[in-house]
Amino acid sequence: MTASERQLSTTVLVIGTGGSGLRAAIEIAEAGVDVLAVGKRPKSDAHTSLAAGGINAALATMDADDSWQQHAADTLKESYLLADPRVVQTVTEGAARGIEDLERYGMPFAREDDGRISQRFFGAHTYRRTAFAGDYTGLEIQRTLVNRAVQLDVPILDTVYITRILVDEDGAVFGAYGFDLDDGTGYLIHADAVILAAGGHNRIWRRTSSRRDENTGDSWRLAVEAGGRVRDPELVQFHPSGIIEPENAAGTLISEAARGEGGILTNALGERFMAKYDPERLELSTRDRVALACYTEIKEGRGTPNGGVWLDVSHLPRETIMRRLPRVYQTMLELQMLDITTAPIEIAPTAHYSMGGVWVRPDDHGTDVPGLYAIGEASSGLHGANRLGGNSLIELLVFGRIVGQAAIDYSRALPAQPRSAAAVQSARDEIAGLLASDGAENVRALQRAIRNTMTEHAGVVRDEAGLRAGLAELDAIEARMTQIGVHPDIAGYQDLAHAFDLKSAALAARATLEAALERRETRGCHNRSDFPDLDESLQVNLVWSPRDGVARESIPEIPEEIAALMREVETVGKLVE
Ligand code: FUM
Repeated sequence: MTASERQLSTTVLVIGTGGSGLRAAIEIAEAGVDVLAVGKRPKSDAHTSLAAGGINAALATMDADDSWQQHAADTLKESYLLADPRVVQTVTEGAARGIEDLERYGMPFAREDDGRISQRFFGAHTYRRTAFAGDYTGLEIQRTLVNRAVQLDVPILDTVYITRILVDEDGAVFGAYGFDLDDGTGYLIHADAVILAAGGHNRIWRRTSSRRDENTGDSWRLAVEAGGRVRDPELVQFHPSGIIEPENAAGTLISEAARGEGGILTNALGERFMAKYDPERLELSTRDRVALACYTEIKEGRGTPNGGVWLDVSHLPRETIMRRLPRVYQTMLELQMLDITTAPIEIAPTAHYSMGGVWVRPDDHGTDVPGLYAIGEASSGLHGANRLGGNSLIELLVFGRIVGQAAIDYSRALPAQPRSAAAVQSARDEIAGLLASDGAENVRALQRAIRNTMTEHAGVVRDEAGLRAGLAELDAIEARMTQIGVHPDIAGYQDLAHAFDLKSAALAARATLEAALERRETRGCHNRSDFPDLDESLQVNLVWSPRDGVARESIPEIPEEIAALMREVETVGKLVE
């Protein structure tokens, strides 16, 4: 049993204290409405702080011809036509305002000598439109948002692990249940509306840019158990450049900024291999193509002894590296004692971003569950089959504002809020049941088993036999999950959190494998060696729920003014044989 229970009440509960959760909370607090933000990681160190290279907006500070329409066209084109044009338009058109909001909150963007915000190239953007703060952009955004939230007295509880969204007998939200990670105290939080901002699921691969307790699929499980669905779970962005060693930091991100500033990729033979795969854009091709190219070089035997390729920035002026890539410089010194001003970095693809997520409406990011919203990496609609680097940070600024307002409007329109004692008791029982479990199966070992399965069968390149084998392995892991032991100790309730993370990871893995099986084509990040071509009939989103499996959802037409700006780029990417 948990030690005790605290009961809280607010108008809007935000789950997740990263950038998207905080931006929504700020909107709500600025409107004078009660809001509470809860998270399972220290707010100063939320996952947003790891986003490195920049944030996109067609400000045209460097390239006067840029426009939000061109930004929209680039985003749609590189989504392989799976992004929702309505979401894309909202984000790209609202991007300049998102940047203004950040400036208003005090964000220290890099600037040119005349005071303009500097913008750099990121892969597959027609113009320089990625604003930045060195390669610490996400960290500075997180700091800026935390400061603003503190100014507004937004209550933030960043040691509370949410285990359930509470829904009444009619299926509408009335709050959430969780526990304190330090002392196990139960948290019953009543709220009119709940915003899910708890990230994606890329931690369920072995090599990932996320840390141990981040992006474990929590948003998906919470939404699905409350009655929601997940869209495009199979569309996972593998970033080309994760470090390989040391093993316990494998996958740590080397920002795309390194290529944006002029970094070069070579294989073990010294060949600049991107010339084969995308002769026009080379290292600044789309992430899916660069990741696949790295994968192919490694798989075909032209990789380094440790199974990577080289990313080299040592030809750049030292001053450029120190000013524009300070985090890459520090990371490599810390983790490998490697000086990137003189030596190349050994890298390989790393699971980086969930481009799918909780199914949401395009206008207000409401889910299937009345009163429940999802935002940021937890949500879906903007990225399709390939996300442009820098688009996720701007998405959270734009939709943070919109979703905050939508939750306020929902609450204002509520005539009354029915609750369900049975739902609360069931959430309490779930925690009590886990705390009473004393089986022989170790939760962390089962998490590792899921990561092994996903890495083996649902990585950069997939096929039917592998995906089916992955599902069979997952069945076996889920059977073992009935025999777990959960043992909080005097250090805290992390073991209970791991048990819930495991449940989330299993659900996210199943959604991913089942949808990946169903997408019998190669499109963007989703490479099927048994279906190497794009299938036009699959220009649809795949929507998954445990009850209904995978269903197809059509995508609206792209407005003419944007379609006219989508240009073809000659590429010659190839799959491993
Ligand atoms: O490479 C990077 O700096 C990552 C940026 C992003 O994922 O948006």
